[in-house]
Amino acid sequence: MTQLKPFPEGFLWGGATAANQCEGAYDADGRGLANVDVVPIGEDREAIITGRKKMFDFEEGYFYPAKESIDMYHHFKEDIALFGEMGFKTYRLSIAWTRIFPKGDEEQPNEAGLKFYEDLFKECHKYGIEPLVTITHFDCPMHLIEKYGGWRNRKMLGFYENLCRVLFNRYKGLVKYWLTFNEINMILHAPFMGAGLCFEEGEDVEQVKYQAAHHELVASAIATKIAHEVDPENKVGCMLAAGQYYPHTCHPRDVWEGLQEDRENYFFIDVQARGCYPNYAKKKWEREGIELDIHEEDLELLKEHTVDFISFSYYSSRVASGDPAVKEKTAGNIFASIKNPYLDASEWGWQIDPLGFRITLNSIWDRYQKPLFVVENGLGAVDTPDENGYVADDYRIAYLREHIKTMNDAVNEDGVVLWGYTTWGCIDLVSAGTGEMKKRYGFIYVDRDNDGNGTLKRTKKKSFDWYKKVVATNGSDIE
Ligand code: BG6
Repeated sequence: MTQLKPFPEGFLWGGATAANQCEGAYDADGRGLANVDVVPIGEDREAIITGRKKMFDFEEGYFYPAKESIDMYHHFKEDIALFGEMGFKTYRLSIAWTRIFPKGDEEQPNEAGLKFYEDLFKECHKYGIEPLVTITHFDCPMHLIEKYGGWRNRKMLGFYENLCRVLFNRYKGLVKYWLTFNEINMILHAPFMGAGLCFEEGEDVEQVKYQAAHHELVASAIATKIAHEVDPENKVGCMLAAGQYYPHTCHPRDVWEGLQEDRENYFFIDVQARGCYPNYAKKKWEREGIELDIHEEDLELLKEHTVDFISFSYYSSRVASGDPAVKEKTAGNIFASIKNPYLDASEWGWQIDPLGFRITLNSIWDRYQKPLFVVENGLGAVDTPDENGYVADDYRIAYLREHIKTMNDAVNEDGVVLWGYTTWGCIDLVSAGTGEMKKRYGFIYVDRDNDGNGTLKRTKKKSFDWYKKVVATNGSDIE
């Protein structure tokens, strides 16, 4: 057995989910409608999440997986008990904005929604689990999209601020770790998710996206400010869909392209971690005729209220080429990149690169020198239960083992400061990219299929016991 050096004492092992992908109960106890509810499974999904096709309500002939999802809303006690059994030190989840403010622009929050999360956080603490809360994970109230155009509108700053104030005050003492926006860089690739952007014919899409990004960045700074005011113990992080770009060859043109592509993603974290807009972004906007409405006070907020830590998701590295003849793409976390001939891929075509994880961890650490938190990593795969309902998911264990090994190297050999690691979809849930249930990440199998059939029964997979051992040995026994 290979014995690894343990991770630092107090390392936060756990798992991650998002409200819209697991809670279901989309209209329970006063919850309002959100963008994430009206995104169906099937061929129109991509056009909708990229803002090219409008779908503002449920329509005939479509199946909307988030409506019921795995119904964690009614199963959370059972699910958290299983997380507790695995020894989780933390559980990353997100708040459904429309449970707290059903329309988004109300003065008073919905008590039933607040109570739901209060109970859930208390349940976590029963098992010594520290909640790690994403304030928005791709969700935005539909009312704010229809009435104000989502994050393109500056008014969103105020609505988000109200939400944050309510959350920080109500959950003081129950929640200490907060993330402001899930995968903030996704606004460039899936702008209806999260930012609630839809585009009119002929509109300058880049201008709208960067204006909305500016609003989110300022909102994130405001959230950080309030979190610290309400409770100096609060730690606020940003969240990036990460994955280092490699040049396709050592041709300088490819290296340059890789740098450009990385900057497109790091742009967000450069602002949230360093407190100002990088020169390369200002030059890009100048070149492309993008003119943003930025107020003097925005720049002060960005400067004064940078994040305490940097969190990110990592599923794969990416490849860039400056040669237009290199076209072969590979699927990936919402945005595709050039195919890497040296890597295998998952059933969904996501390339598997454990060493890329170490490279990504080091790159982010070198760039910012702020504590890191890996809040998503995992393998989406088809699981086939045997006649007793048991899933022997050795492929998932292998994926996680290889990634934990390189994460261990990053920490113990390279000196990267890392607070914790939460695997994505620790319990099976609805895929954000495709809307499928079939694409499973969990240690816990949930009996539900792509069409919404199934008993919702929870069953431990083989990886459940494996991860339990990893956590119990603080990452030193991963065999
Ligand atoms: C990240 C998201 O993009 O990747 C999650 O933050 C998502 O919400 C995860 O589920 C995996 O992607 P997918 O498309 O396999 O669900």
